Amino acid sequence: MSVPVVYRARAYDTPDDPFDPATAAPGFRYDDDLGLAVSDDGVIVMRGPYAAVAAAHPGTPVLDLRAGLLLPGLVDTHVHFPQVRVIGALGMPLLEWLERCALPEEVHLGSPDYAATIAEEFVASLIAAGTTTSLVFGSHFAPAVDLLLAEAERYGLRVTTGLVVSDRILPEPLLTTPDRAYAEALGLASRWHGRGRIRYAVTPRFALSASDPVLAACASVLDEVGGSLFTTHVNENSAEVATVAGQFPHRDHYVDTYDHHGLLGPLSVLAHDVHPTDAELDVMAARRTSVSWCPTSNSALGSGIFPLRRHLAAGVRVALGSDVGAGTGFSVFKEGLQAYFLQHLLGDDGMPLGAGHLLHLSTAAGAAALGLADTVGDLSEGKQFDAVLLRPPPGTALDLGLRHADSPESALGKVFALAGDADVAEVWVGGDQVASGGFVRPVTPR
Ligand code: GUN
Ligand code: ZN
Repeated sequence: MSVPVVYRARAYDTPDDPFDPATAAPGFRYDDDLGLAVSDDGVIVMRGPYAAVAAAHPGTPVLDLRAGLLLPGLVDTHVHFPQVRVIGALGMPLLEWLERCALPEEVHLGSPDYAATIAEEFVASLIAAGTTTSLVFGSHFAPAVDLLLAEAERYGLRVTTGLVVSDRILPEPLLTTPDRAYAEALGLASRWHGRGRIRYAVTPRFALSASDPVLAACASVLDEVGGSLFTTHVNENSAEVATVAGQFPHRDHYVDTYDHHGLLGPLSVLAHDVHPTDAELDVMAARRTSVSWCPTSNSALGSGIFPLRRHLAAGVRVALGSDVGAGTGFSVFKEGLQAYFLQHLLGDDGMPLGAGHLLHLSTAAGAAALGLADTVGDLSEGKQFDAVLLRPPPGTALDLGLRHADSPESALGKVFALAGDADVAEVWVGGDQVASGGFVRPVTPR
C-alpha cells in the first residue's frame, strides 16, 4: 500500500450521530487544518492535524484544499434515473403527477438511444451536485438499467439500482409479469451486483402497481442475490394509501404489503413514509429498515410533512433523498434546507435541526441506510475517501457568507442555506477524482 497524496483541508463530518442525546453539541466534527493521507486504493489511512500527517509522510505530495471546505461525499437515498427531464412540474398531487408527467417520460426509456442520453444527463447531474453514493430508482426497461450502470461505472460512482417492476395500473409499456420481472432482475444482478462500486436493488415501484405475485418474484430475487438492497415507495400520499388499503384487504397496513413477502430488513429503504401508523413504524424499526425522507418532493407534490420525531422515537433510521424528478433537483443540500424548514414549521411536533443534523442526514445517515456505514459517510481513518470540496466562485452568495461566518457552525449553516452545484468544485469517490473545477470527468476505477 502506498500513499500517493496527503490532503490538507478545512473539513467537516459527523462521525457521531447528532440525533443521539449522548453526542455533544454542535453534533459535527470540524478541523481547520486537517491532514488526510489517502492510499492508492482510496482509503484514508491516516487522519490528524496536518502537521502530524505531513510529518508521518515525508516527501508525499500535498494537495492544499484550504481555499474551500471539504465534506464527505453526499448520499442520496432516493433518486429516479428516468426523471431527469421532468424536474420542476408544479401544482399536482402524486397520482396526477405520475400520470401526466413521470410515467409518459419513463415510457421513452424503452428506446436505448434515449435511455443512453438520459443516463449521461443523470450521472453528470449526480456528480455536479456532489452526490457520490446513491440508491437510484432505475427504469422499467432492463437495457436502460444496463446503460445507467455502464455510465455510473465510467465515473466510478457508488450506485445501487435495479429494474423497476410493476404489473398493473401503469401505462402498458411499463408493465411486466412476475416471471419476466424475476428473469430480467437476475440477469441484471448477475451482470452488475458487486462489480466495482455497483450493487443491485430489488425495486417494485410501489404496492399500488405491484401485485402479490410480482412482490413474491421480488422476494425470490432478494433471496438469491446476496447483499442486494430492497427499495420502493410507501405512505407518500393519502389517496395512494387509501387505494393500497383497498387493493390489499388481507394485509395489516401498507408496510405489511412488503413485509408479508419478507422484503423488509436492514438493507431495505422505503421512500417517503409521510403518513405512517404507529404499527407500521414498529414493523420498520423491528426490521431495521430505513426511510428515505424527500423534503422537496413532499413539498412540491403537497404530500405532507414528514413526521421525523415519530420515526426517531420509534427507532426507525432516516436519511435524505432528492426524489428527482418530483423533488426539485439533485442537490442534497437543498433537501437538508427544506428538511430544516419543514420541521421548523411543525412547531412542537417538529424536530429542531441544526447544521450538524443536516450534515449527518446528508452523509453518514445515508451511508448507514445503504449498509455502507463502514465504507463511507465520514472522513475517518479506514473509510474510503469520498469527498466534495465546496469552493464558491468569488463574490457569490456562499463565498461572501463563508467569509463572514463567525463560527464553524454558522459556516455550515450557510452551506445548507446557500450551496448549489456551482459551489461544488471537486468530487472524489474512493480516492478517484470524478469532478474538477466543476467539470465531470470519467475515471478508471481501481
Ligand atoms: N410512487 C410511485 N412512483 C413514484 C415516483 O416516481 N415518484 C414519487 N415521488 N412517488 C412514487
Ligand atoms: Zn420516488
